[in-house]
Amino acid sequence: MMLRISDFRTRARSRLPRFVFDYVDGAAEDEECIVRNETDLRALHLLPTCLRDTTTLDTSIEVFGQTWAAPIGIAPIGFAGLVRPRADSTLAQAAQALCLPYVLSTASNERIETVREAAPGGQQWLQLYVMSDRGIAEQMVQRARRAGYGALVLTVDVPVSGMRERDLRNGFKLPFRPGLRTLADLVTHPAWSLSMALAGSPGFVNLTADNVKASPQLQAALLARTMDRSLTWESLRWLRSLWDGPLLVKGLLHPEDAKRALAHGVDGIVVSNHGGRQLDAAPSTISALPAVVDAAAGQVPVFVDSGFRRGSDVVKALALGARGVFIGRPAVWGLAAGGREGAVAALRLFMDEITRTMTLLGAPRVADLQPLHVRKNV
Ligand code: GLV
Repeated sequence: MMLRISDFRTRARSRLPRFVFDYVDGAAEDEECIVRNETDLRALHLLPTCLRDTTTLDTSIEVFGQTWAAPIGIAPIGFAGLVRPRADSTLAQAAQALCLPYVLSTASNERIETVREAAPGGQQWLQLYVMSDRGIAEQMVQRARRAGYGALVLTVDVPVSGMRERDLRNGFKLPFRPGLRTLADLVTHPAWSLSMALAGSPGFVNLTADNVKASPQLQAALLARTMDRSLTWESLRWLRSLWDGPLLVKGLLHPEDAKRALAHGVDGIVVSNHGGRQLDAAPSTISALPAVVDAAAGQVPVFVDSGFRRGSDVVKALALGARGVFIGRPAVWGLAAGGREGAVAALRLFMDEITRTMTLLGAPRVADLQPLHVRKNV
């Protein structure tokens, strides 16, 4: 039975070859940050306020003039096409079905326009990586604007890739040359291998404006996360000249950076440590959130991601001032476990848990969630 998010992870683990499961599941170096994200969330307790009328429970929120049915969205997931063919549009459709937003990754395997057409009534945002040829980012932003994407999310925590030991041990890089262990892995996962053989191996199809395949070197550079390290706060001006919609920065942990973001006119902040995939020594996002919320001083919405595995985790972040929470790995586990229905089921589980938690807390609307509902376990 799929009663908890970890049930989806277990099923994903059995369906996916090890190198794919590890790519999704793995994090940087000793993988301590990813654990810290979860344990720090668990270390917070929720204090109910009783005898409140919860006959009508409303989990919806407003963000940039749009309604989300619940305060969660799907985080950008690079190379999702490894999990299943057409993963990006499938996740966009799952989000649309639930009236939740979906953030398409620069490292996606379907074209910006294709994903939009697959879920034309949904809310899609574009996550942006800036590689040394800034022309790549420029054309992506322009295409996203034309296709009707609702916000641009600049990732700021990848000047260089985190050290992903699992990927290195699995030989997971481009060009992909599977070793004996991986070949055995493919044979023991025939459904996955057949689906990839039929659909063709996924590539990074958004690096060129037309349908021309990006060079193998460029695709390898994106998988190796080779970014433009000269990108600074001043570069936001360049992005602003290309994009007139909401502009968010994702990957902040420091309150001083939040102030800088405000000074540079961003419209939103995503507190993130990239799911523990970048700086292993980074603090958990739930511990970094309150200072960033203070620094943002209500001027822009603050979102958070990394390590959220329960609806109650989401409620804790909202009570501490987050506007919404982005869900990454659990959506992928749902996708691996059961395609679109699997992703919907994983997200619905979060939504049901959020509803139940808010009811138990005596907080019938998201705006009722306050710091007084959260207590540090001592
Ligand atoms: C991509 O953003 C990754 O973390 O693998």
